[in-house]
Amino acid sequence: MDVIALDAPTDAQIRAWHEVLAAVHAADPAADPAPDPEGTARLLLGAEPGARQRLWAVADGGRLVAVAALRLSGEPGTDRPGEIDVQVHPVHRRRGLGRRLLAAAAEGLRADGRSSVIAQVLAGTPAVPFLESQGFECVLTLRGMLLRLDEVPPERVARLLAEAPAGYDLVRWRGVVPDEHAAALARAKHAMADLAEYEGAPWDAHRVREMAEVVAKRGDALYTVAALHGGTIAGFTEIVVPHDSAGRAAQYDTAVVPEHRGRRVGIWVKAAMLAWLADECPGVRDIETDNSGDNAHMIAVNEELGFRTERESLEYQARITDLP
Ligand SMILES: CC(C)(COP(=O)(O)OP(=O)(O)OC[C@H]1O[C@@H](n2cnc3c(N)ncnc32)[C@H](O)[C@@H]1OP(=O)(O)O)[C@@H](O)C(=O)NCCC(=O)NCCS
Repeated sequence: MDVIALDAPTDAQIRAWHEVLAAVHAADPAADPAPDPEGTARLLLGAEPGARQRLWAVADGGRLVAVAALRLSGEPGTDRPGEIDVQVHPVHRRRGLGRRLLAAAAEGLRADGRSSVIAQVLAGTPAVPFLESQGFECVLTLRGMLLRLDEVPPERVARLLAEAPAGYDLVRWRGVVPDEHAAALARAKHAMADLAEYEGAPWDAHRVREMAEVVAKRGDALYTVAALHGGTIAGFTEIVVPHDSAGRAAQYDTAVVPEHRGRRVGIWVKAAMLAWLADECPGVRDIETDNSGDNAHMIAVNEELGFRTERESLEYQARITDLP
C-alpha cells in the first residue's frame, strides 16, 4: 500500500476519504458531530483564503484506508506552523500507516519552508502516544465547553448586562472590524499572550481583517462585541455562526487587555453577545468554546455564564527537525 498525494481529489476519492472519517468517528466516540459528506467535500476542495492545503492518502485497491491533510496558512516560508490531521481507519491501525503519512507531510512542510507543525487531538485517544512517538510535545491543553442557550435564564443575562463596569461603553459589529477600531482590536488580540506566542505570529490590523475576511468567504457570520474605555478597546469577544451550523455557534477569541482586567469586562461583553445573538440569530441553540486549560479566569467566566465542560483536547507541536 503506497502513500499517494491527492492534489486534486476526484469525486470518488472524496467519497473514499469520507468513508475513512466516518469509520474513525464511529470507532472513537467524540463530542464532535459526525462528519457529513458535503462537509468533507468542502474541506477537501476549498482551502480557506490565505491558506493552502495538501492531501495524502494510503489506498488499498479502490478504497482509502488512511488520510492526512496539511493546512498551510500564509505564504511559503512564513513562521506560522502548519496544521496536520492524520486519520487511520480503525482496522488498519498499528501498521505504520500514520507514521508514513506523517513522513509525507513532513516532506510537504520542508518543501514549504515551515519550521514547525501543530496537531489538535482529543485527550485519552491513540493520537497522544502516536504524536509523542513521532517527536511532538504537548504545548496546550484545551477544555471544550458548551453553552446550551435554552438553559440560560434570561434574567442571568439581564443582570450581568446591568452590572456594567463603570466607565466602559459597548460597541458591536458584524464582519470586518470598523477602521477606527482595527489597531486597538489587534492590540487586544495581542493580549492573549499565551496564544500569540504559541502561534508565533503577531496580531496587527491586517491580520485582524484577514481573519474576518476568511470567515466571510466561507459564508459564515462573525459577530464582535467590544468594551470601549476612553474610546479604545479594553476587551472584546467574538462569535462565529457557521452558515451550515445546525444551531451551533463557535466562540472565537475573547480577551481583556491587562490594565482592564479584574473589572468584569470579560463577562460583561460575553453577556452582551448572548443578548445580541438572541435577537439577531434565534436559530442558534448552543455555543461551543475551547479554553486553554490553564486559563482559570476564562473558564470561571464561562462557568458563570452556564458553559459546561464536554471534552479535553490537546495541542501538540513538533519542530520539523524532530520529525521522521
Ligand atoms: C493516531 C492515529 C493516526 C495513529 O495511526 P496508526 O497508523 O495506528 O499509527 P502507527 O501505526 O503509524 O503508529 C506509530 C507509533 O505510534 C505509537 N502509537 C500509535 N497508536 C498507538 C496506541 N494506540 N497506543 C500506543 N502507542 C501508539 C506507537 O509508538 C507506534 O509505533 P509501534 O506500532 O511500532 O509501537 C490513529 O490512531 C487514528 O487515526 N486516530 C484517530 C484520529 C486522530 O486522533 N488523529 C489525530 C492525529 S494528528
